[in-house]
Amino acid sequence: MASFTTELIPERFHAAVVDWQGKNFPEMHFLTDSWEKYFRGQTPFQLTARIGTAAPIAELGQFAGQAKFEKAGDMTGNMFYSAKDIIRAQCSTEFGSIQQHRLTLEGAFSDQAKYDTLRIMGEELRHAYQMFWVLAHDPSWKKLGMGDVAQETMEELLSMQTGSHVLDAFNIVFNEFADNVIFAAVIDLVGKYQLEMQRVFTYAPMARSMAPMLSEEAFHITSGRRNFKEVALRAARGEYAGGLAQVQKVLNQWYPRGLEMFGSESGGATVMQFGFKDKTNAASQGEYMQEVKEMVVEPINLALIQQKLPGTTLDKAKEILWQVEEEKDYPAGLTPKDLLHVPAASFFRKRGLPEMAFQPYDAEGRLMTEGGKPLSPKAYQAYLQTVLPAKYLASEEFAKYCREADAHFGGKGW
Ligand SMILES: [Fe+2]
Ligand SMILES: [Fe+2]
Repeated sequence: MASFTTELIPERFHAAVVDWQGKNFPEMHFLTDSWEKYFRGQTPFQLTARIGTAAPIAELGQFAGQAKFEKAGDMTGNMFYSAKDIIRAQCSTEFGSIQQHRLTLEGAFSDQAKYDTLRIMGEELRHAYQMFWVLAHDPSWKKLGMGDVAQETMEELLSMQTGSHVLDAFNIVFNEFADNVIFAAVIDLVGKYQLEMQRVFTYAPMARSMAPMLSEEAFHITSGRRNFKEVALRAARGEYAGGLAQVQKVLNQWYPRGLEMFGSESGGATVMQFGFKDKTNAASQGEYMQEVKEMVVEPINLALIQQKLPGTTLDKAKEILWQVEEEKDYPAGLTPKDLLHVPAASFFRKRGLPEMAFQPYDAEGRLMTEGGKPLSPKAYQAYLQTVLPAKYLASEEFAKYCREADAHFGGKGW
């Protein structure tokens, strides 16, 4: 019972997406060939735009009560460009995540986990296609004196690589399968929040794109949680290189970038005025943090406790976890290293509130000091060496962070 209609985009753009897929996701045929084996009875993958339903009247912002915009060209000035920027950023995440997932597919611990990832990649390709539909079906993105904004944006998107995507989270190279599963659990979850907020979008074609995308994101998030849990349990049993300590480092690598995907904690008001989203950055980020803690990491910790202390009931495991979190009281046989810990919101931030960005907070959220003064960028980077994955620390993305940190403090330290 599909609650959407499907559309294709004009042939030359369709061909461009298929060409992109051939170069960036040549494994896609494994997914389509084996769909029935791994996802029996579920609607097979198809590269189409899915047009769902959305309220026709703007729900909030300066246009509340008026009909939503059907034509991009009817939006003026900043609003037109702000809509384009959101669509561009959204589409960049879709293409970017495919380029990332692909690198470490072979590290999957099972065929099902590998096909879960392939399905996520296929659906992200469809989401990119959906954003192309938003741009390509509406000729009014081409505006007198502004050029063909749709065409220019699509061409730019097709040329983006890991390193040149809009958001930092999509410029981090995957090095191991923990990246795939933690990304699906933690970064796709930000995507869910963005799509939920964008259901109100005052540019109607964007609003109508959200519900079908959200139903696919639900699979990304649930399979991500399931496979993240499996990787953590295997790691704790010594069946994953680097053990649970390595999984913790991979979580430390992703979570700060996920928090930053919401935009600065002090922002979001203009976008709400335009009626593009229905929550401020800080409000949605706060809900996200709670969901990561309660729905992603706590269930894994309960399973880790049950694995470590055989015979422990789920209720007993919950009691233990509560004691650990509230009282920092570990029972015999359990240490902090046996569990995963969500880093503090202030840890390893490069964007956001000035009191957090580039400030030397440790993973527990304590400001690190040396002789009564905050740690120098160099000393903080030495600390980061102990809590982030070695391959990430050797990457261009981390080098960029270090350069930005130095520039932030004028090369002089604090
Ligand atoms: Fe997506
Ligand atoms: Fe996704």
